[in-house]
Amino acid sequence: MFGGNFAERLKFLTDMVNAHLGETERRASENIGERSGIAEAMNYSLSAGGKRIRPVLTLSFCRACGGNEENALPAACALEMVHTFSLIHDDLPCMDNDDYRRGKPSCHKAYGEAMALLAGDALLNAAYETLGSDGNLTAETRTALMRELSHWTGVAGMIGGQVIDTLYDGEFDERLLLDMYSMKTGALLKAACRMGCISAGADGNALAAAERYAEKLGLAFQIIDDILDITGDEKLLGKSVGSDAKNGKHTYASINGVERSRERAKLLTEEAYAELDIFKDSDFLKDLTMYLLERNY
Ligand code: IPE
Ligand code: IPE
Ligand code: MG
Ligand code: MG
Ligand code: MG
Repeated sequence: MFGGNFAERLKFLTDMVNAHLGETERRASENIGERSGIAEAMNYSLSAGGKRIRPVLTLSFCRACGGNEENALPAACALEMVHTFSLIHDDLPCMDNDDYRRGKPSCHKAYGEAMALLAGDALLNAAYETLGSDGNLTAETRTALMRELSHWTGVAGMIGGQVIDTLYDGEFDERLLLDMYSMKTGALLKAACRMGCISAGADGNALAAAERYAEKLGLAFQIIDDILDITGDEKLLGKSVGSDAKNGKHTYASINGVERSRERAKLLTEEAYAELDIFKDSDFLKDLTMYLLERNY
């Protein structure tokens, strides 16, 4: 199903993101100088890899709306920086206390807790700096992008979801659990898809469809993440397996079992897929949507 074209395009977009991230990182290091270990700690987590799903979505939605994907690169890289910040903090002992991430010791294992905390903070700020200073979008578009990123990252989005995840360690009712997934995971995916549309100058219909798509995709993505925490291969995943059980976390998969969870993820993926029909050039996005359902890392 995922033939040469899909794999090649995914690699092309991932390489494009990595090249731009590398360039941004190099500039940041020049600005702050060698004496501070912070650039090294930021780069350690940022360059460790990861699937780059959020930036790839941003570039692909930009193109699907008829835009030039180069214009979406600042937004794409900003999102990957925010996402990497969220992972560094998520792994800290005060949160999930996980020692392994993106195939390497977690940032706090390599640099200590204080430096990991600061590297996360610094990546969040580097994201806004990138949005504000890179590329050739108008000031109005940049402001719109900053508003999106801050909204979906903040208390109404990813951080708010992490708060619920942290506070409620008892049994969740399904509504609260899915609301939490929608915030902690769905929100950055919404930002990714919507910011791609905004970078292309798309209209409100496209933005609304992108948001509905990301809502479904986000739920499916987190349910699969939960399944992989139970059934995954640590080497392939590049992060600790069994983290949820270790922390006594009730997840969709732990409550409903792996098989029912897979069915729900499939249904959500199909609903997401259906939202892509209004976009002009959505073949890659459709393949990507199915690829994320079947992923084993
Ligand atoms: C992991 O995200 C955290 C979740 C929101 C489930 P990814 O699975 O996209 O992590 P990377 O970027 O590939 O490392
Ligand atoms: C994290 O969810 C979502 C974030 C906002 C970072 P998880 O805690 O399940 O993510 P992993 O499994 O550690 O990547
Ligand atoms: Mg967590
Ligand atoms: Mg975690
Ligand atoms: Mg997880």
